[in-house]
Amino acid sequence: MIWTRKDLLGLEDLSAEEITLILDTAASLKEISERTVKKVPALRGKTVVMFFVEPSTRTRTSFELAAKRLSADTLSITASASSLQKGESLKDTVKNIEAMKVDALVIRHSSSGAPHMLAKALSPSIINAGDGSHEHPTQALLDIFTIREKKSKIKGLNVSLIGDIMHSRVARSNIWALTKLGANVTVCAPATLMPPGIEKLGIKVTTNLKEAIKGADVLNVLRIQMERQKDKFFPSIREYTMKFGVDLEKLKEAKKDVLIMHPGPINRGIELTPEVADGKYSVILEQVTNGIAVRMAVLFLLLGKKK
Ligand code: CP
Repeated sequence: MIWTRKDLLGLEDLSAEEITLILDTAASLKEISERTVKKVPALRGKTVVMFFVEPSTRTRTSFELAAKRLSADTLSITASASSLQKGESLKDTVKNIEAMKVDALVIRHSSSGAPHMLAKALSPSIINAGDGSHEHPTQALLDIFTIREKKSKIKGLNVSLIGDIMHSRVARSNIWALTKLGANVTVCAPATLMPPGIEKLGIKVTTNLKEAIKGADVLNVLRIQMERQKDKFFPSIREYTMKFGVDLEKLKEAKKDVLIMHPGPINRGIELTPEVADGKYSVILEQVTNGIAVRMAVLFLLLGKKK
């Protein structure tokens, strides 16, 4: 399998073979971050720009470290310090960055489809670092990389995604990729946070947390995205936590080797109690570590053979 795409915009369009190629490449690059000198010359001479129009800790830092560990030059632009503030359009701003001969642009934007629009208009590789409620492909890839590392397979595993499914780009990217790789996916949320028709994606849908926990190999617990909720989707945080928050008591129903995942940032005490977030089942910080390997793989596949 040879990588041929210019951009990484989402996992909906990728084949199982392409997803597996990214995971396998990440597996071979992971040990670079364990070395004393954490650097290889693979992308020497390439320039990668991080352009985040929404806040980020993990994704931006991780892409920047991934690019640096492959010896690419990097720079970061934040919306608040860019000419977007003066009324320049996103396309004009990015066309000016393109004119400075950069090789890749990692973009996060609150509008679904923003990276897709840029990918059509521009020659640098565009990497979607999260677009609105649409997709967050590298988050799902690092989630799946972590599951595969822990369980040695994806096919046949029972993976439950719990929380704000409606507004979650992480959920969408996970559903696309996990179903392509043969996992059995369940989504669990209050009915008001469940997108209508989501069962058509070939997944199980429930509003009962007990059902989502029982028999699951993985619980990927999602953040409540207050910033994307214009309406009140549940009566109170307290009620949400009682019904959908994961605590040690509710985990008594879980498999003994269940993995607890969360893409971060965690609303501690709401989606997960601290005992669960930091407990023996949690692989949350391993997800963060694996994010670097996965993003190194994406940059390497997109830019490694580019003249
Ligand atoms: N998971 C994730 O996208 O985290 P950040 O918002 O910190 O990048």
